Amino acid sequence: MKYHIVTYGCQMNLHESEKIAGILKEAGYSESAPAEEADIIVFNTCCIRENAENHAFGNIGALKKLKREKRDLIIAVGGCMVQEAGKAEVLMKKFPFIDILFGTHNLPELKHLIELKRQKKKHLVSLAEAREGAEDNVTPVRTSYPNAWVNIMYGCNNFCSYCIVPYVRGREISRDPEDILQEVKALVAEGYKEITLLGQNVDSYRFGDWDFPRLLDEVASVPGNFRVRFMTSHPKDFSEALVAVMKRHQKICKHLHLPVQAGNDRILKLMNRRYTREKYLEDLALLRREIPDCEVTTDLIVAFPTETEAEFEETLSLVEEADLASAFTFIYSPRTGTKAAEMEGRIPEDVAKDRITRLIALVNRKTREKSAKYVGKTVEILCEDFDEKKGMYLGRDEYGRMGYFKSDEDPIGEFVNLKITEANGISLYGERVF
Ligand code: SAH
Ligand code: SF4
Ligand code: F3S
Repeated sequence: MKYHIVTYGCQMNLHESEKIAGILKEAGYSESAPAEEADIIVFNTCCIRENAENHAFGNIGALKKLKREKRDLIIAVGGCMVQEAGKAEVLMKKFPFIDILFGTHNLPELKHLIELKRQKKKHLVSLAEAREGAEDNVTPVRTSYPNAWVNIMYGCNNFCSYCIVPYVRGREISRDPEDILQEVKALVAEGYKEITLLGQNVDSYRFGDWDFPRLLDEVASVPGNFRVRFMTSHPKDFSEALVAVMKRHQKICKHLHLPVQAGNDRILKLMNRRYTREKYLEDLALLRREIPDCEVTTDLIVAFPTETEAEFEETLSLVEEADLASAFTFIYSPRTGTKAAEMEGRIPEDVAKDRITRLIALVNRKTREKSAKYVGKTVEILCEDFDEKKGMYLGRDEYGRMGYFKSDEDPIGEFVNLKITEANGISLYGERVF
């Protein structure tokens, strides 16, 4: 029996799909296969923006025919969208062929739900509240070697006014640091070369007298040849202690993903972000004083309700002023149940599109300028894959920049030195040097 998993959304969800694969293996499914050959298809959904939802709706709908032809095929839908108020009912009504719906806190039940489904023939729904340690016993089927994702906490308490995550992922729960360290040690022993600590808000990590800088310090102190990354950080929790730990350890990538969302204080306040433009710039100044070559990337939202042209331009000027290396850019998408969805002053679509186009052009220019500076330099990348189209191996440097190169032998999982000969957008091309 084979499985097929479709994932939408963030790294958190990608890692959760690895856990789902682990559960499917326990339930007797031996390997991953294309949808047409699978005995169970699982959708791990996202609802952060409307287009993420539309995407999932489209793909689930497209399975109707396959399900009609293959009666025993089990279709399960899980993830953030299922956890949204009223969405489970909508999904059931729209797609009556769904066999199992499971929420973000129901991974421990999934195996049982599948077994029940195999015995009876009815729709099964399971939606639970967040529980401590609920998914920590699952052994994931990891798909991102040489990187391994490690959850350090679940949920979010921040309630940024635009964001649905706190509603669908529940309150923050931090994992026991001993369990995290044990997992990291085991992964390093297995040969993983990059550990990415995951949480919606890693800086809010708290377990007894452990906070995030202490956890990061301990993870980076695990012996072995590997890198450490973490995401996501929230500017309101930025601390000197975090910078000190980043500075102390070679193993920690000199890259901070610090989503700022907007460059104007009135908008930041409406977003309930709890920091100002000035504070963000001061924090980055401190970071760069301590770690001069640290790169900062960010997330940005345009066309938040009532955002004026002048306020949007402050987002543009912040990208320059903060010298951001790259950014994920989004048009504000109203999410039912959030504070911002109730706000007046929606920005017309044509204005929003114009703003995001200008922002993307600026971000791309910044990224290109920074890439160009690499030409002639030697950078260390961790080789992660082979690109069939280009006929080249690829990997990332510690700042997250992609480097491509040719090699006769297979260096996947190795740290490789590349002398950069060409920079093209976000990608670098180089020759391996020994
Ligand atoms: N916990 C992380 C990431 C959350 S989701 C953080 O706080 O940074 C990733 C990004 O999606 C956010 O940083 C934000 O830029 C964007 N996002 C979240 N809700 C959104 C919405 N309703 N519309 C548009 N973008 C949104
Ligand atoms: Fe959403 Fe804000 Fe929490 Fe990030 S910190 S998940 S943007 S509520
Ligand atoms: Fe991630 Fe989307 Fe959920 S961004 S936490 S999968 S709503």
